[in-house]
Amino acid sequence: MSDKVYDVPSAWAQKAYVDDAHYQSMYAASVNDPDAFWGEHGKRIDWFDPFTKVKNTSFDPGHVSIKWFEDGVTNVAYNCVDRHLDERGDQVAIIWEGDSPDESRNITYRELYGEVNKLANVLRNRGVEKGDRVTIYLPMIPEAAFAMLACARLGAIHSIVFGGFSPDSLAGRVSDCGSKCLITADEGLRGGRKVPLKANVDAAIDQIDGGVDHVIVVRRTGGKVDMTPGRDVYYDEAVAMVTDECPAEPMNAEDPLFILYTSGSTGKPKGVLHTTAGYLVYASMTHQYIFDYHPGDIYWCTADVGWVTGHSYIVYGPLANGATTLMFEGIPNYPTVSRFWDVVDKHKVNIFYTAPTAIRSLMQAGEEPVKRTSRASLRLLGSVGEPINPEAWEWYYRVVGEERCPIVDTWWQTETGGILITPLPGATKLKPGSATLPFFGVLPEVVDAEGKVLEGPCEGNLVIADSWPGQMRTVYGDHERFEQTYFSTYPGKYFTGDGCRRDADGFYWITGRVDDVINVSGHRMGTAEVESALVAHPKVSEAAVVGFPHDIKGQGIYAYVTLMEGVEPTEELRKELVGWVRREIGPIASPDLIQFAPGLPKTRSGKIMRRILRKIAEDQFESLGDTSTLADPGVVEDLISNRQNKR
Ligand code: PRX
Repeated sequence: MSDKVYDVPSAWAQKAYVDDAHYQSMYAASVNDPDAFWGEHGKRIDWFDPFTKVKNTSFDPGHVSIKWFEDGVTNVAYNCVDRHLDERGDQVAIIWEGDSPDESRNITYRELYGEVNKLANVLRNRGVEKGDRVTIYLPMIPEAAFAMLACARLGAIHSIVFGGFSPDSLAGRVSDCGSKCLITADEGLRGGRKVPLKANVDAAIDQIDGGVDHVIVVRRTGGKVDMTPGRDVYYDEAVAMVTDECPAEPMNAEDPLFILYTSGSTGKPKGVLHTTAGYLVYASMTHQYIFDYHPGDIYWCTADVGWVTGHSYIVYGPLANGATTLMFEGIPNYPTVSRFWDVVDKHKVNIFYTAPTAIRSLMQAGEEPVKRTSRASLRLLGSVGEPINPEAWEWYYRVVGEERCPIVDTWWQTETGGILITPLPGATKLKPGSATLPFFGVLPEVVDAEGKVLEGPCEGNLVIADSWPGQMRTVYGDHERFEQTYFSTYPGKYFTGDGCRRDADGFYWITGRVDDVINVSGHRMGTAEVESALVAHPKVSEAAVVGFPHDIKGQGIYAYVTLMEGVEPTEELRKELVGWVRREIGPIASPDLIQFAPGLPKTRSGKIMRRILRKIAEDQFESLGDTSTLADPGVVEDLISNRQNKR
């Protein structure tokens, strides 16, 4: 923890939307009378039929129900595209920067309108209707945004699967939501390397009962792929056959907008469901205030649309605000480690939003690759995805932002739809490593293990006491799991799964997950998922997976593996298991370290004591706690002496 404090520069306090006094009064209004506050701010989007009701939510056990603006009618694509045409039809909506620095493209709001409508017509001609699910498995190309908005226009529910997931993971997600239509590309391109997306789709469909009816394939690299006649069609050929006018479906505020699968502590990934109006109001309002977005600003969020950050802060929030949003296909160190800053200079980016893991990896390459670029256009920096360590924060602030750009450290989750705890750049002093204070309408509380609400400076688990418009509404197809996962640990409150501290100024410091979820390079991974991939290998009898501190990734994946009787623990097998998990889930789930363990620490009733495994992976041998209740206390010594070294 750092005790440094950076006051709000007076120029920021003067010109930002909100200064400190304004934040205090708006925050008080938002929590004292949510109906009045959100009733007013709900008008920031355009409505086909206005709402008359604002908040209708309950966190009561057994009756969790979340509705916002429930009798209003609108359409998200209309709000992100059509309504801007009169005022800024010729303004650039999306700047696309390709993997190679030679490739970029500007798409105006008018062009975006044409592209979205054409694709919506292509989908409609294939029978896609309001409420149908469409899976999107695309690289970071403009067609990903067109696809999201085309679904929203028709009222179809999109489910984006990150391009780094394996065919197995893709198949699971397509089957779970029953999508009959898939949008993909021939191949993706990242850091000069090709990703076989269409081949993965074909492999996934082979595993799906009843297959899918339609696959639309964007030609990204022009690589040769198999096309199944009657099922597969090239995107460019399909859009050439349709008009660029497609009516925007009137959607009830609570009609679903998208599903996004995310990992939890147990079971398969959950389909987090977000709906129409509350989500859009919240995404657009947070985008405007937190990034202090003013018309004409060039805004860049480096996330992938496969994650929630890409949904809310590359596509929906910025486009609802009529912003110019930059979409980047590549990676931070290709072709050189100056790439981010070269892109900033090339497109004169004013607002830059990235993840701590990217900062830490660029930090390793030193200051020179940053300093050889100008970055004069930068005004504000943002961080998201995991706690940012003060060293990385200071480097980002001093080297990248030249002590001129505030950093907004934004805490939120797939489930929250938008940012919940964050500084506002004109209002909040900054403390490196703290996400600071709640956004309007957000009521964080810190509770102890028994659920007692702690007051003042304290440390415990982070819960949110009441609903906000961007909150997820349910787990797709499993409302009981929704209640169980988020509302049963502390009945009547939304449990975030994160631990946190609150200091004497009331600032929040997120300390990381307190459940069996680990955060690898800002990506969420359920340890149970990696374990079930490992035990699916014929030579593995048992596996336990925990996180360990990793210099670049934040957390790495540490797997303890017990082999079947008679199987030799070799280096080769270790590699084979890493490759196996990559194939089963995807490269982001690759274990960093595998320790072959003849036995795992278990209680006498057979429960694996993960606390002990975590401590060993963290090198905290002294604080293993009581091991006397183990069925075989001897296994601990063996585990310690065969501890794998960090890379
Ligand atoms: O542990 C918190 C961490 O990321 C988790 C949410 O992951 P996901 O749903 O994939 O969404 C990531 C992008 C919003 C949280 O439970 N997290 C996210 N942002 C921060 C963070 N931890 C600390 N500080 C943050 N700014």
